[in-house]
Amino acid sequence: MARGVPHTHRDRAADVLAIFGISGDLARKMTFRALYRMEKAGRLPCEVVGVALDEWDDEALRRHAREAIEAAVPEFDEAVFERLAQRLSYVQGDYSDPETFERVKAALGKHEAPVFYLEIPPSLFASVVKGLGAAGLTAGAHVVIEKPFGHDLESARALQAELGEVLEEEQILRIDHYLGKEPVMDITYLRFANSLLEPVWNRQHVSHVQMTIAEDFGVDDRGRFYDAVGAMRDVIQNHALQVIGLIAMEPPTGNSPDSIRDKKLELFKAMRTADPKRYVRGQYDGFLEVRDVDPKSTTETFAAVELEIDNWRWAGVPFFVRAGKSLPVKSSEVTAVFRRPPQTGIGHGKTPEPNKLTFRIEPEPGSRMRMYQKQADKEAFEPADLEVLFEREPGADPEPYERLLEDALAGDHTLFTRQDAIEETWRVVQPLLDEPGPVLPYEPGTWGPTEANDLLRGVATWSEPWMP
Ligand code: BG6
Repeated sequence: MARGVPHTHRDRAADVLAIFGISGDLARKMTFRALYRMEKAGRLPCEVVGVALDEWDDEALRRHAREAIEAAVPEFDEAVFERLAQRLSYVQGDYSDPETFERVKAALGKHEAPVFYLEIPPSLFASVVKGLGAAGLTAGAHVVIEKPFGHDLESARALQAELGEVLEEEQILRIDHYLGKEPVMDITYLRFANSLLEPVWNRQHVSHVQMTIAEDFGVDDRGRFYDAVGAMRDVIQNHALQVIGLIAMEPPTGNSPDSIRDKKLELFKAMRTADPKRYVRGQYDGFLEVRDVDPKSTTETFAAVELEIDNWRWAGVPFFVRAGKSLPVKSSEVTAVFRRPPQTGIGHGKTPEPNKLTFRIEPEPGSRMRMYQKQADKEAFEPADLEVLFEREPGADPEPYERLLEDALAGDHTLFTRQDAIEETWRVVQPLLDEPGPVLPYEPGTWGPTEANDLLRGVATWSEPWMP
């Protein structure tokens, strides 16, 4: 199949998982825990080969796995861990050395459908993939990679060109962990499992949409990574736009892994290239003192932007997105704000506030429809909320990395991002990277620079996040 052309298939299930960078941070914080939870649920179907530069052996890998899991799961089950430990083996090696890939080949044995998960810096993706190719390991394989997929449109294309020398598009599984979040999947269900919503989900009824990804902590020990990236590249170009894709896309049709991805792509294509005049950047006081941050850095730790979609459903409906570190709360949500009802003969000449439908991703996933009712004993309006909490049994839903790893092993591509969509989202934000404008200071624990409020002037104000 021609590269970049959307395809429609579910691939065969993997028979082995090889993780490059098993000694790193992501493995310690996320991957071992995900593997353990999969093992516990009986959903880890294969052996796991860890690869890294460290002078470890199988036993050292198991020891590290144990430490990471003990620190991450509330009730460590020895029997589950033992089953997992039996699946683990280790290959030591430098990724620039062809010998490493020969050792990986020997460790994989006669497996035919490996999944290679690259938990390594993106600058190494291409050389590892070439090493795998040269060792004859890529036929029948899938390669899982993590963002960032480039740092702008051009570098995203360059990365793809390098990977494309060895792999077909359908062999590359790109993780955006937001898409593995249960409440993000719930958005699609709420939208399309309820015929009530569809007639009002458009420019006739929705006045604007707001999305907030707020974190109430700073950059902590991630100074080196974050200073090179900033809020726009870290969470807006990927997580926020992917969620807006689901909020605003047309109904998916057909039942293939591309049903949803095709509709998201169509939506991204309709998104106007962002306007730097409708973009506000902020930096919290104290960021410059974070370890490994350039003391003169102008990287944004807060970003707010207005996006527009030129299509029949959304033309003229602004989509406001803000994201940042050191904000008042940890919250991730999207709210559609409906048009205000007219003033009528009720409520003593007052006009009611608009209805709002909020999808809450963090904390405590759920959705809320804000309605208005009569205040008791008074001819006045008061809010009355219809709330649905998505989580049925706390902690029981698969976590994002767990779900995505399972899907990668099962050969299901639905929740992975496609290169065409990634290029469209870079295209949308590219002017903001080219002309970022000044970075404005803000106090930690506030909602970023006050200029972010001006973006909404004449339309609304930012909604207070809906907290449990
Ligand atoms: C990551 C970003 O992709 O997403 C982090 O690099 C951010 O900076 C994180 O904190 C937010 O996701 P979650 O799932 O931890 O809320």
